[in-house]
Amino acid sequence: MWKAVVTAAVAFVLLFCRSSTLDNGLARTPPMGWLAWERFRCNVDCVDDPYNCISEELFMQMADRLAEDGWKELGYNYLNIDDCWMSMDRDEQGNLYANKTRFPNGIKKLADYVHSKGLKLGIYLDFGTHTCGGYPGSIKYLQKDAETIAGWGIDMLKMDGCYANVSDMSWGYPDMEMYMNKTGRPILFSCSWPAYAGGIKVDYSVLAKHCNAWRNYDDIQDSWDSVTHIIDWFGDNQDVLAPVAGPGHWNDPDMLIVGDYSLSYEESKAQMAMWAILAAPLFMSNDLRSISPEARSILMNKEVIRISQDSLGMQGRRVIKGDDKIEVWLREIEYASYGIAFLNRRTDGIPYNYTLTLQDLNFTYGKGYHLDDLFSGQPLGHFELNKNLTVSMVPNGVVLIYAYPSE
Ligand SMILES: *[C@@H]1O[C@H](CO)[C@@H](O)[C@H](O)[C@H]1NC(C)=O
Ligand SMILES: *[C@@H]1O[C@H](CO)[C@@H](O)[C@H](O)[C@H]1NC(C)=O
Ligand SMILES: *[C@@H]1O[C@H](CO)[C@@H](O)[C@H](O)[C@H]1NC(C)=O
Ligand SMILES: *[C@@H]1O[C@H](CO)[C@@H](O)[C@H](O)[C@H]1NC(C)=O
Ligand SMILES: *[C@@H]1O[C@H](CO)[C@@H](O)[C@H](O)[C@H]1NC(C)=O
Ligand SMILES: *[C@@H]1O[C@H](CO)[C@@H](O)[C@H](O)[C@H]1NC(C)=O
Repeated sequence: MWKAVVTAAVAFVLLFCRSSTLDNGLARTPPMGWLAWERFRCNVDCVDDPYNCISEELFMQMADRLAEDGWKELGYNYLNIDDCWMSMDRDEQGNLYANKTRFPNGIKKLADYVHSKGLKLGIYLDFGTHTCGGYPGSIKYLQKDAETIAGWGIDMLKMDGCYANVSDMSWGYPDMEMYMNKTGRPILFSCSWPAYAGGIKVDYSVLAKHCNAWRNYDDIQDSWDSVTHIIDWFGDNQDVLAPVAGPGHWNDPDMLIVGDYSLSYEESKAQMAMWAILAAPLFMSNDLRSISPEARSILMNKEVIRISQDSLGMQGRRVIKGDDKIEVWLREIEYASYGIAFLNRRTDGIPYNYTLTLQDLNFTYGKGYHLDDLFSGQPLGHFELNKNLTVSMVPNGVVLIYAYPSE
């Protein structure tokens, strides 16, 4: 019964939204993959640091890891280049080309390699006069650059917004989408427009018409402070942000830094859980050649990925933010089920027990729900609406629960 109701609702939403959102068939669930920026930045020193510099070697090695270590099968199928791949100048015809020392075989060959591994290749451009790293910008070359990347076989474009006027973005990003559409190659389009336009001071219905995802807010840095800053911003602005997310068009709180230097094991689970609740794109920026088994197990948690990739595509919300520094976040998922994240923002150093009932969360199904703890992998059992549920969280920790209606 639930299934029928939900299917009808989804059909209605699809019908209703079809004409008003980007229709390139891509990103029906939040896209997943790997993106170079946060971990490898603009390291172009291939003389002293050949193993970590932005080069075709680095991307081929990451492609191998994505394809051979089980990532691809879980959905992590985009391999994305960020800034600093280009030559400092365009060629005589005005075409972009990759730095020949670091990408001696060019992007087309790299795309062929990535495709041969069953993966997709993403690339980076900037809408303005220059990229953030000072490489050639696209503002006067939108059509040319769309044709160039389509010709190379690119599958995703992140278009940044450094060195541009925000007022120009309202024609620039839509134009780029149109030019990419004209190439006939479906290219997932990630727009940095709102991040430059002040986050919520943009018309998100226009964004959803032209972009598959958009960076709303600050770049993530390798720290728990940065992660919580982003989580807070998404919670504080959820009334604007949650309604505009859906299949084909997503808010993007930026990369997963799980597996990097700063997050503890608990903090890593917390980022993964919150990104799943937020229906966020899951782009890891880490070194897949040396990632720890703990980080790997978090990023590869199938049940958490299932929440992330839920077909309804509804972004979760912060429904409780208490003085006790415990937050409860809720995401509605298919079959009248929910993902529930309990996020502990306390720093007092001891595990904290938090008690509530499903009634407190306004759950309504009379027969109650079954609950599973997705990180421990343990079923928590059946809960009537008024039965106490006690969740034990460590500092900076999360408990992520999957709740589904009892038969
Ligand atoms: C290519 O990158 C190297 C640094 O790795 C730099 O020295 C060189 O100037 C770049 N070449 C062009 C044409 O931008
Ligand atoms: C932004 O707009 C101003 C005024 O129109 C113009 O002088 C400036 O060149 C523009 N900057 C960019 C990066 O396009
Ligand atoms: C181009 O846009 C049309 C109309 O929205 C859509 O049907 C088509 O799939 C798009 N093609 C590509 C390659 O994105
Ligand atoms: C918290 O709950 C756990 C069981 O979930 C229990 O073992 C522990 O004693 C409780 N701690 C406190 C301080 O009540
Ligand atoms: C449920 O928990 C509350 C405190 O959160 C407590 O006052 C109440 O006695 C508990 N009820 C049962 C049936 O354990
Ligand atoms: C439950 O619903 C009430 C009444 O609409 C509302 O005030 C409360 O915030 C809701 N609680 C949650 C956790 O959503």
